[in-house]
Amino acid sequence: MIYFVGAGPGDPDLITVKGAELLARSQVVIYAGSLVNKELLSRCAPGTEIYNSANMTLQQITGIMIEAHRAGRDVVRLHTGDPSLYGAIQEQMDILREAEVPFAVVPGVSSFVAAAAAIPHELTLPGVTQTVILTRFKGRTEVPATESMASLAAHQATMCIFLSVHLIDQLTSELLAGGYPEDTPVVVVEKASWPDERIIHGTISDISARVQQADITRTAMILVGASFKADYTPSKLYDRNFSHGFRRGNQ
Ligand SMILES: C[S@@+](CC[C@H](N)C(=O)[O-])C[C@H]1O[C@@H](n2cnc3c(N)ncnc32)[C@H](O)[C@@H]1O
Repeated sequence: MIYFVGAGPGDPDLITVKGAELLARSQVVIYAGSLVNKELLSRCAPGTEIYNSANMTLQQITGIMIEAHRAGRDVVRLHTGDPSLYGAIQEQMDILREAEVPFAVVPGVSSFVAAAAAIPHELTLPGVTQTVILTRFKGRTEVPATESMASLAAHQATMCIFLSVHLIDQLTSELLAGGYPEDTPVVVVEKASWPDERIIHGTISDISARVQQADITRTAMILVGASFKADYTPSKLYDRNFSHGFRRGNQ
């Protein structure tokens, strides 16, 4: 069996219990070397065959998986954060399906939630926004025109922007063009949950200069939205006048 496992954002304790157990008992591990914390590999049993996929092709990666499965061995494919986001796992799963090799996905703690925890701040506030948009700025990978930064900005929701900190100047221009006010808060979290994590606060109008001054060019999450400063209506969930399935109001 092949397991695509979310390694979490960096802190090795942020892998799930299920992911850690699979790492400890699989005979082959292929990890995404650029972002996965190598400390996680200390959970592998002695003798585990370990590959860094950073310099491997899709065919080499899936070739190792298929061969291991046919030899009766389990494989963990370790991806940063949660594998379903910008993880390039679809093409791996499609090749495995074609080869009739069984696989499963074990989710992980994505970097956007690790960034929210680092601040710490809630991403959805009643009366401000109830929507979180996960996206990226167009780079070498195209983004459909219907998802341009300006068109997403029009929603004034909380945005979590991956893979884009090196383009923050262009990005903030598009956010303004899309309708966010200039004083909308932006928080950039570099290497959330790593020991050298950094958090830069600003607004759409000044965050680009702050990020450049801090020389942050990669592995950062850009969080945008009024939630990060807003007056909001406290949630009804713990309001003593509000009844729900587990509690009657006015108690
Ligand atoms: C290829 S994507 C992988 C995302 C990953 N699957 C996830 O769920 O977090 C890499 C991007 O995720 C973000 N990222 C990953 N780890 C991060 C961290 N610890 N702190 C902040 N951003 C991170 C950055 O925007 C980085 O450019």
